[in-house]
Amino acid sequence: MTRLLLAGTGLIGHRHLDHILEHPELELAGVIDPVPENRAAARAPGFETLADVDRPADGIVIATPTGTHAPLTLAALQRGLHVLVEKPVADTLENADAMIAAGRDCGRHVLVGHHRRYHPCVTTLKQLLDQGRVGRPVAVSLLWLMRKPDEYFDIAWRAGMNGGPVRQNLIHDVDMLRWLFGEVVEVTGLGSNAVRGAARTESGTAVLRFDSGVIVSITFADSTPTPWGFEAGSGENPHIAWTGQDCMRIACTEGAIEFPSLRVWSGANSWAERPDLSETEVAETVPLVRQLEHFADVIAGRADPVITARDARETLAVTLEIERATLPAGVSQ
Ligand SMILES: NC(=O)c1ccc[n+]([C@@H]2O[C@H](COP(=O)([O-])OP(=O)(O)OC[C@H]3O[C@@H](n4cnc5c(N)ncnc54)[C@H](O)[C@@H]3O)[C@@H](O)[C@H]2O)c1
Repeated sequence: MTRLLLAGTGLIGHRHLDHILEHPELELAGVIDPVPENRAAARAPGFETLADVDRPADGIVIATPTGTHAPLTLAALQRGLHVLVEKPVADTLENADAMIAAGRDCGRHVLVGHHRRYHPCVTTLKQLLDQGRVGRPVAVSLLWLMRKPDEYFDIAWRAGMNGGPVRQNLIHDVDMLRWLFGEVVEVTGLGSNAVRGAARTESGTAVLRFDSGVIVSITFADSTPTPWGFEAGSGENPHIAWTGQDCMRIACTEGAIEFPSLRVWSGANSWAERPDLSETEVAETVPLVRQLEHFADVIAGRADPVITARDARETLAVTLEIERATLPAGVSQ
């Protein structure tokens, strides 16, 4: 059994909570949340702060507001815990650096919850690309166009930049794109806040150049109820309605891939020929569960971390560049 603490029982914390409680090889050692009614609902010993925890644990899942990730991670490492912290790894690159250094100094792992890398659609896509089934990726078009309910922004920490779609949602896409296509070497874009008028980017298009030569455009908004976005297309998130529509098209030198349906077009040598379409089978896995199992494997020394704090720091750096490139007029980062 791997004994885990959980800090934060909000939107994503509740999902971690249920998955830990349901898993036969994980034990919920305790729940930390400053709001008494939140921790009372957790079916585990509740604590107001990490300093109050009076029982042993092997690791901690941190699912608290982004600005608390760094101080909580540093405190957990000092207690000898391994850490799985939600994305973004931190609110600033400096805080991410402090977390990386502390993990190294304590000899403990800091993993980051970019859980799409455990999604079977994403792992299968990576295999297809790595096998070169449709040649080399050239250009990619990605959409994330959802409408968040207005109440989402009633929680204070989500009202500002930390709650905007770039840091909250595109960061998942950035992590996935880096995993698939390499490092980002240039970012440009345009953004707007024309719908809600909030002091953050609400919509826009970013264009990324990768060191592999791939160019990716990402068009995004959190104010548009469309069927296009990773979670809507894959059905990964119980809070986001499933549509089954593709949200990414990958154009390669010998064909193309639609995602997450993983429909592969191939066999055409030029526009004079119609490419053939083939479907790809994908296994069923719950990525958040797979991520917890991986965390347990890392704690036990059975695996190396898939997503380290250092890796997630690079994803944060690109995300902050996108945010900078898409800031609406009059809004500062
Ligand atoms: N991986 C994903 O798909 C995903 C989805 C949503 C949110 N997130 C990330 O998870 C984090 C939390 O987001 P959310 O929407 O669940 O937030 P939330 O506001 O719904 O919940 C946060 C919870 O943390 C508690 N909390 C606040 N400070 C705390 C502290 N110092 N110690 C312990 N608990 C504390 C709050 O009382 C609340 O219960 C954010 O960093 C967000 O970016 C990730």
